[in-house]
Amino acid sequence: MVAVAVNQQNEMVGFEMFYFRTDEIPSRVIHLAFTGIAPSLRGQGLGSILRRYAVSQFHARGLRGISAQVTQDNLPSMRSLLNAGYVKTGESADGLTHFMIRRL
Ligand SMILES: CC(C)(COP(=O)(O)OP(=O)(O)OC[C@H]1O[C@@H](n2cnc3c(N)ncnc32)[C@H](O)[C@@H]1OP(=O)(O)O)[C@@H](O)C(=O)NCCC(=O)NCCS
Repeated sequence: MVAVAVNQQNEMVGFEMFYFRTDEIPSRVIHLAFTGIAPSLRGQGLGSILRRYAVSQFHARGLRGISAQVTQDNLPSMRSLLNAGYVKTGESADGLTHFMIRRL
């Protein structure tokens, strides 16, 4: 599943990719694989808008959650996840990766 953001010229300026992980299917959770915003447009709220868009779409389609992972040094990614209502559920053994979920 991919959500794409385009500008007024219909050029892609951002995208968000999701897939189902086998162990999360029974709980109706989809996994957020990657979000990317064009470098020149980062820091203007687009990433947060894309994340909120996915939340509304998956909620409307009956999913129960969106899981995600973010490295602790990626502040824009972490902040945009928190903006969209994700919460931390744990972290990797080395503490470098945070496990997140957005319950729907
Ligand atoms: C991560 C990414 C998708 C976020 O999208 P974005 O449009 O840049 O983010 P937003 O403008 O919505 O900002 C989200 C939050 O990060 C903060 N932020 C943005 N750029 C920042 C920076 N360079 N340093 C610190 N904080 C920053 C914003 O202030 C905002 O926080 P706030 O709402 O608490 O003020 C985008 O930066 C990106 O494509 N990064 C490269 C790819 C990547 O790392 N993807 C994530 C891994 S899956």
